Amino acid sequence: MSKLIYFDNNATTMSAPEVIEAMVPFFGQRYGNPSSMYPFGGEAAAAVKKARENVAALMGCEPREVVFTSCGTESDNTALWSALRTQPDKRHLVTSRVEHPAIGSNLPFLKNQGYRVTEIGVDEKGNLLWDQFIESLTPDTALASFLWANNETGTIFPVAEMAEACAERGIQFHTDAVQAAGKIPLNLAGTKIDMASISGHKLHAPKGIGALYVRRGLKYMPYMVGGHQENGRRGGTENVPYIVALGRAAELALANMDDENTRVRALRDRLEKGLTEAISHTRINGDPQNRVPNTTNISFEYVEGEAILLHLAGSGICASSGSACTSGSLEPSHVLRAMGVPFTAAHGSIRLSLSVHNTREEVDYAIKTFPPIIAKLRDMSPFWKDDGPAEDNSMLSCETGSCQVCGV
Ligand SMILES: Cc1ncc(COP(=O)(O)O)c(C=O)c1O
Repeated sequence: MSKLIYFDNNATTMSAPEVIEAMVPFFGQRYGNPSSMYPFGGEAAAAVKKARENVAALMGCEPREVVFTSCGTESDNTALWSALRTQPDKRHLVTSRVEHPAIGSNLPFLKNQGYRVTEIGVDEKGNLLWDQFIESLTPDTALASFLWANNETGTIFPVAEMAEACAERGIQFHTDAVQAAGKIPLNLAGTKIDMASISGHKLHAPKGIGALYVRRGLKYMPYMVGGHQENGRRGGTENVPYIVALGRAAELALANMDDENTRVRALRDRLEKGLTEAISHTRINGDPQNRVPNTTNISFEYVEGEAILLHLAGSGICASSGSACTSGSLEPSHVLRAMGVPFTAAHGSIRLSLSVHNTREEVDYAIKTFPPIIAKLRDMSPFWKDDGPAEDNSMLSCETGSCQVCGV
């Protein structure tokens, strides 16, 4: 099989042909500014309006509750800073230990500024520690911000119930729904969620467009201040082609939701079963039931994820690993560490994330391709002997400061 096999749809997705077709005219002959008063600008405004309606349909909210942004990261930052700036007397933020950096990277700065930050833990499947969450909520809490679906494992947080608990206590609730949108129904209107982020390039629109749901009546402050675009909620001339793209992608995502939850789920399960049956010493990271339908995170113990990726790339397969190379040492992902995944497994973890564009033929090719790669890498591993782990693996511990794999 010579074509590219793309199993990294949680990283980004291919823009759908229908999406490209819809957006292209707005780069060319339909270049009007939606704020202009003449009909040529009105054409662009009408296209933005239609896109807003489609995004609202995907999110299950009213069109006027949708604010277009430049990406998921901007949506997350907007929500966080809006909550903190509109409630200056409240100095506490609650989030989790497994958040995306779009929220997580704000925390050191906030702590530095004197905010109190509570990071709730997860169990071994990545599910939220509910009691810890409830106990963390105080009258001083400005915002609770939690992923809807985890980008690495797919595990789903019970955000509707969490938002209820926050609403009862007068606390704003934001969810990063970037990895949930298009995979599971959002139905925001039926919840107490105050703000929700999505990103176009995770659902077959281009990179560089996102949206933030802001519940009607919520105290809100823009992150980008400028003109009166987006009803005064986000300054900057609207990126009409990309907004149109997101609208069309949202329409397709809604239409494909059944396929995602039946065919794509079955493909993911086939892939997972094929790999775990063919290869010994594997484990699934995440909750096998409570997760989005397209994602699997599998550990191939005693091998290095990055090495697996290189070999997969040589066979035309794109995936991602649960360890990241930082300053020469391989750090296991903060998500897998928070779940307590043993580091021999965390180091060899691979995320495979599918989309409606994947086929059974591709899955079967992957099931055949993995076993010789893992066998070869294990043959070279000092922690593997013959058909199993080497007897003395005592040097393998990130906790003791003597890990020979990652150097921590
Ligand atoms: C859960 C989650 N939140 C936020 C983002 C950031 O989105 P964007 O790339 O559009 O800024 C991502 C992208 O990887 C993500 O997976």
